[in-house]
Amino acid sequence: MGINYRKSYKFAVKSAAVITIFSTLLIILLQYLFFTIDWLFTVTFTLLFFAFSFYVLQYRVERFIYRRIQKIYKEVSILDESVLRNQPITTDMQTLMYEVNKFATDKKVEIESLRVQEEYRREFIGNVAHELKTPLFTVQGYVSTLLEGGVKDKALRKKYLTRADKGIERLIEIVNDLDMITKLETNELKLNKQTFDIIEIFQNVFDLLEMKAEKKDITMMFDKDHYRSIIVKGDREKINQVVLNLVDNSIKYGRENGTTEVSIESLTDNKLLVRITDNGYGIEKKHIPRLFERFYRTDVSRSRDVGGSGLGLSIVKHIIEAHNEHIYVESKIGVGSEFSFTIEKAVKK
Ligand SMILES: Nc1ncnc2c1ncn2[C@@H]1O[C@H](COP(=O)(O)OP(=O)(O)O)[C@@H](O)[C@H]1O
Ligand SMILES: [Mg+2]
Repeated sequence: MGINYRKSYKFAVKSAAVITIFSTLLIILLQYLFFTIDWLFTVTFTLLFFAFSFYVLQYRVERFIYRRIQKIYKEVSILDESVLRNQPITTDMQTLMYEVNKFATDKKVEIESLRVQEEYRREFIGNVAHELKTPLFTVQGYVSTLLEGGVKDKALRKKYLTRADKGIERLIEIVNDLDMITKLETNELKLNKQTFDIIEIFQNVFDLLEMKAEKKDITMMFDKDHYRSIIVKGDREKINQVVLNLVDNSIKYGRENGTTEVSIESLTDNKLLVRITDNGYGIEKKHIPRLFERFYRTDVSRSRDVGGSGLGLSIVKHIIEAHNEHIYVESKIGVGSEFSFTIEKAVKK
């Protein structure tokens, strides 16, 4: 049969024994009735009979069960027939049961993960549509007002065009964020590691966000007055994005007249800890575990209407994790928030 059975003789032995006992008793009875009892004949008969019925039973049962198991495997195409060939099967169907169970569990896990993926996809599309809607309607609103006669008023025209332009800027920002997150999640973005000055990155970001900070009278600064350059190793552009996102958040969710303070300190021989601290709204504890999820925004930030897609922090986390580094957040409502991440030193000390 070419199959490696782990033989289970119990069934055949027991059945053969029962049949043998019965026929031996019968033979003894027949001898008693018609002749005299010949014990040598009886013992020989018993042994031969037992051997024969054991063999027939064992062989037939194996064939019988094997054929049926094989048929099940074939018909129920869900099972992999090859396990029959390279794995010992037992006549007590243990393997089949194990296989069916394993199959069911595997399928359950598979279905569950497909369901989660499907839900994620649906949610993602819903979120994208939702995020695009607001700026899109803003732009549409201003453009239609202009078309409906607003063009004639010069001052209004400028104002509305500027607002429409802002809306378009938001749209581009969101699309860029979406593009980035898709690339990060499909691992398409490769890190381009180099050494660079992290102080310079912060200074550039401060310059870029100066106007935004001034509107809320927020001061952006380092905790120490004169940092020399601090050279780190990583993907300069992506770390720039991390810093931009974190400082931008600290302003967006910072209070009027507040501060955004940056500190960079040595953590271990080859790691630095970069901290961005604000004294803004703070984040409720219940939001913290979900903060880095795509599109996640606290109700507070939504109702304050400070713009944003909720993608910033998930992009930040992806980038930091791609560097094999960590990001941490500590926050207290009404007191402020501190986001910190680790980064590799270029020169080990
Ligand atoms: N410094 C901060 N202070 C308070 N809340 C913050 C801060 N940074 C992030 N958050 C909260 O985390 C949410 C997610 O941030 P983010 O992913 O950057 O999205 P976005 O800035 O587009 O809203 C924000 O909507 C805000 O509620
Ligand atoms: Mg943000």
